[in-house]
Amino acid sequence: MDQTKLERLALGMARDHVWMEGISFPTTILGDLKSLQDEFVARDEDVIVISYPKSGTNWIKEIINLIRTRGDPSWVQSVVSWERTPWLESSFGLELIKKQKDARFYTSHLPVQFFPKTFFTSKAKCVYIVRNPRDILVSGYHFWKAVKVTKNPDSFEGYFEWFLQGNVPFGSWFDHVGGWLQMRGKENFLFISYEELHQDRRASVEKISQFLGTKLSPEQLDSVLKNVTFQAMKDNNMSNLSLLPDTLMDHSKACLMRKGIVGDWENHFTVAQSEAFDKVYQEKMAGIPPASSRGS
Ligand code: A3P
Repeated sequence: MDQTKLERLALGMARDHVWMEGISFPTTILGDLKSLQDEFVARDEDVIVISYPKSGTNWIKEIINLIRTRGDPSWVQSVVSWERTPWLESSFGLELIKKQKDARFYTSHLPVQFFPKTFFTSKAKCVYIVRNPRDILVSGYHFWKAVKVTKNPDSFEGYFEWFLQGNVPFGSWFDHVGGWLQMRGKENFLFISYEELHQDRRASVEKISQFLGTKLSPEQLDSVLKNVTFQAMKDNNMSNLSLLPDTLMDHSKACLMRKGIVGDWENHFTVAQSEAFDKVYQEKMAGIPPASSRGS
């Protein structure tokens, strides 16, 4: 693991955020997204996880990593997640993607308008995970407090407003999901919701492995399922982000594997916030059918 390099990278970065085309990004973002968009060549055999932050990205990544090793956990237990499935939009991740050989597997939080153009004409397979944005808001409020390369929320009330305005890392949830949902119906796209994963993990993993064209034996499927429980991932230092350098994350303030439940927003939102959220949701998502019946 090239920890020192990652630490050096984070140390050189401002502890706030950067704006690009009206969207707030963590300072780990590539300085030149335009070149990425124009020059990165997506390959037909690439597999990409795309999501708005806090949707369950790491969960899906872990599931796909384990599908790819046919349930053998040794890889997810020995290599940190950001090296197994690098980030497209960071220079650290991009370097790793370029070194991946066959059947590359990488991840991105980029809104659709920033994505490499070649992707849209390739057969690269994309799994996009959606989650109830109210739970995303709560998860992000806790998580971003600890991340040193973006703006940190001071209060839940303040962060609630930022979220509705889209003034949060990777911009508005409504725009992100609305933008990517345009890809619905394409055969190289799978939309899956955090809530359906919760409700039926076995059926969801089967759906993902079928989409990826990997047939798992019952024993292999059992092993995937065993290694992607909330507790298994929380206990796995290669997957729970606890090894991220302190220069990137203050581990005393938050952790990735916080609660892992559906509906935690009900413990955080006031009645007024819930009503305000519903109003904005209805306005922004008018005409956009949900990705899944349980996804919003
Ligand atoms: P909470 O903060 O609500 O607990 P991302 O990976 O996109 O950053 O999303 C993180 C969220 O996914 C966190 O939500 C985390 O607990 C949840 N998560 C990650 N792995 C999970 C798992 N195996 N089971 C359930 N939830 C999981």
